[in-house]
Amino acid sequence: MIVGVLGAGHVGLVTCVSLASIGHHVSGYDIDRSKVEALMERRMPFHEPGLQDALDAQVAGGHLSFTDDIAGAVAGADVVFICVGTPTRASGQANLLAVERAARDIAKEATGPLVVVEKSTVPAGTSTHVERTLARERPDLVGSLELLSNPEFLREGRALEDAMHPERILVGGSSPRAFEVMRRLYRPFLDAGVPLIETDITSAELSKHASNAFLALKISYTNALARLCEASGADIEAVARVMGADPRIGPEFLAAGLGFGGYCLPKDLAAFEHMSERLGYAFPMLAEVARINEEAIQAAMSKVRDVVWNVEGKRVALLGLSFKPDTDDVRFSPALALARALIAEGASVVGFDPVAGDAAQDEIPELDVAADPYEAAEGASCVVVCTAWDELRELDLDQLGTRMAARNLVDGRNLLDGTAAIAAGFTYRAMGRPDPTPASPPP
Ligand code: UDX
Repeated sequence: MIVGVLGAGHVGLVTCVSLASIGHHVSGYDIDRSKVEALMERRMPFHEPGLQDALDAQVAGGHLSFTDDIAGAVAGADVVFICVGTPTRASGQANLLAVERAARDIAKEATGPLVVVEKSTVPAGTSTHVERTLARERPDLVGSLELLSNPEFLREGRALEDAMHPERILVGGSSPRAFEVMRRLYRPFLDAGVPLIETDITSAELSKHASNAFLALKISYTNALARLCEASGADIEAVARVMGADPRIGPEFLAAGLGFGGYCLPKDLAAFEHMSERLGYAFPMLAEVARINEEAIQAAMSKVRDVVWNVEGKRVALLGLSFKPDTDDVRFSPALALARALIAEGASVVGFDPVAGDAAQDEIPELDVAADPYEAAEGASCVVVCTAWDELRELDLDQLGTRMAARNLVDGRNLLDGTAAIAAGFTYRAMGRPDPTPASPPP
């Protein structure tokens, strides 16, 4: 099939590559000319495991191309995906200007029957506006431009894997013809047994926000429990293990730590809350989820204060700066929230990240960036593990301690072996876990 994708951001690019990989002819468009030029030269605008190789293969194989001419992505296509950004306004409301522009552009360039797909995450009810826009721009194509919602559930860091092996495919709409087009589009996945859920369009839109808000809720619930564990002496890792063994709860997203970040969970939570209010339904639980998430940063701050005493004038090293492992994305990263809180309290902050150092420094110019964890630890009174990168599990604690002004370690992701840290002479604090007792000396 001929597929157009508007928006070559994280979602758009993964959509391009995955659809090309299952045999479609895909043309990706972006309003940002420099991004399109880079992609034409096969230069990836962000770090996403496996995507560069897959992009190379699909471009070389002639299944994928990029264009800065919107007509090139729309004219003659069977399906066009809207994958543009829906950033948050200060009020929490999703900014849908780019979605409106995409709808207008698609309508202008459409040459005949076309299935238009909302993949961008949008508040429930957006489809009404998109449909009106399509009809207003092209009254001659009413009935031929059919709108569907097909939200993505891609995790950064494993987005290609998620796109190629989805847990479910959600399509919302009302036109039997459009549903049929999507079944043809996703046929290889459906034949491999991936469940297809077909709903009305508003339910599909709402399901995306509902899913992300629920994931955020699970994390905040765990972090609130972590505070309770700290107060009571219980261990969140044990509590989460017990809870997760119940299939009604499930073990995922029960990791306590510095909380959630990234471009999706915080933004979608705020947009969902805003949308609920607009619809006249108060949903205060969502604000509480966000509050508990901020509290996690304060909990880490308290631990740093506990181990270094006065933060002012101390050097603190943050290990991991991206919002989660396997990505260079620092948007809404808890590590950067902690860096800002430490700087505000007078600390000098240095960070290390396997890939996100430059991006973090762009966000926080006062942040020093080190080339490795040991360089970061130089002269630091405290090291805080902020992101659960695999590389950090293997830290040589003794080498780390040798460089530090004082051996203090706050494990913001419960990543390290606390007993080993204590054996290496560290004062060790984890999130929601009692302080480990030093191993008794051999008899
Ligand atoms: C999320 C959704 O998972 C995905 O389905 C959606 O399409 C986009 O938003 P992503 O933003 O890539 O994906 O991040 P995710 O893997 O969900 O993690 C979000 C944040 O929660 C990260 O900061 C992570 O460190 C944190 N997290 C995750 C926890 O603090 N504890 C956990 O148990 C799990």
